[in-house]
Amino acid sequence: MSQPISFQYPERVKLAQTPTPLQKMERLSQRYGVEIFFKRDDYTGVELSGNKVRKLEFILHHALKLGADTVITCGGAQSNHCRATAYAATKLGMKTVLLLRTPDPDQPPVPEANVMLDCLAGASIIWITPEHYQQRDQYFAWQAEQLVAAGACPYIIPEGGSTALGAWGYVSAVEELLQDISKLEDCDAMQTTLISAVGSGGTTAGLALGNELFAADFRVVGVNVCEDHDYFKKTVNRIVSDAQSRFLENSMVSPAAFEILDGYVGRGYAQSRPQELEAIRDLARLEGVVLDPVYTGKAYYAMISELEKNPTCFGPRVVFIHTGGLFGLFSIAEQMAEVL
Ligand SMILES: Cc1ncc(COP(=O)(O)O)c(C=O)c1O
Repeated sequence: MSQPISFQYPERVKLAQTPTPLQKMERLSQRYGVEIFFKRDDYTGVELSGNKVRKLEFILHHALKLGADTVITCGGAQSNHCRATAYAATKLGMKTVLLLRTPDPDQPPVPEANVMLDCLAGASIIWITPEHYQQRDQYFAWQAEQLVAAGACPYIIPEGGSTALGAWGYVSAVEELLQDISKLEDCDAMQTTLISAVGSGGTTAGLALGNELFAADFRVVGVNVCEDHDYFKKTVNRIVSDAQSRFLENSMVSPAAFEILDGYVGRGYAQSRPQELEAIRDLARLEGVVLDPVYTGKAYYAMISELEKNPTCFGPRVVFIHTGGLFGLFSIAEQMAEVL
């Protein structure tokens, strides 16, 4: 059995309402004959809800330390990360510039759901095509140059806040989960599988790294909602090893173990299939919990599909990390209405 490794967290600024509750889903547990819990990271806040705020605590502390007054970040049109960044930056007295992806920047999407909230917070939005988004680093540099020329001090946050620094948000969530599990009747973390959605990899990287650092013995499973297994094996490993080399110089950390459960991207990123929306509806009716269509809905659909095939495939206890994203649901109201 591995031993915990001593380390110090990078500095952070308090933004998230943590610890979040760990709730048992009684009816779902009965249905599959295993214990199913939800870690309610959708409760980390309202404007700031979801997983991104845990990462932003570390990232924005760094931005403030460098004297930044404007943050620049990027994502899909309905990015939860961009919305959370706009609100967190505002709370800390900074401005936000968002590079958002859309097929036709001359006809950007109507300002609804997360986009509406971005506008409400006064974020400057620059719409770019998916092709240009591939070269987002150049766009970042170009935007930063313009801001510097105008006398501002910009700070760039890569996609999803999925960086070595951002990953600490989910290292700290592992610490919290160990506390949660220690309060349960059967408190063996070894018997627990953590399941979460993977969009840019930082959440899974933090969970995998935290699992190593605390010798927690969780099984860490990420469900990719875009790209594929190999892409995220590489991406998550890169974030973990960056975090190790930047922050854990003197510690011997073995390659962090995690699994990527591929096969549930469905129609593609932010495209829903009826069965995914039905799963969201059924959970709302069974347990009174709302998921989002882009991340948690897909990861949840993957989890129950695997449990249908083999109820013990994740062992006796599953903790599904509800990473938020609720506002995204309001951008697909018409499609959702078809399954109501
Ligand atoms: C609601 C929600 N859940 C999960 C994820 C995935 O997290 P990560 O980007 O750290 O893989 C994201 C963002 O991409 C998100 O907005």
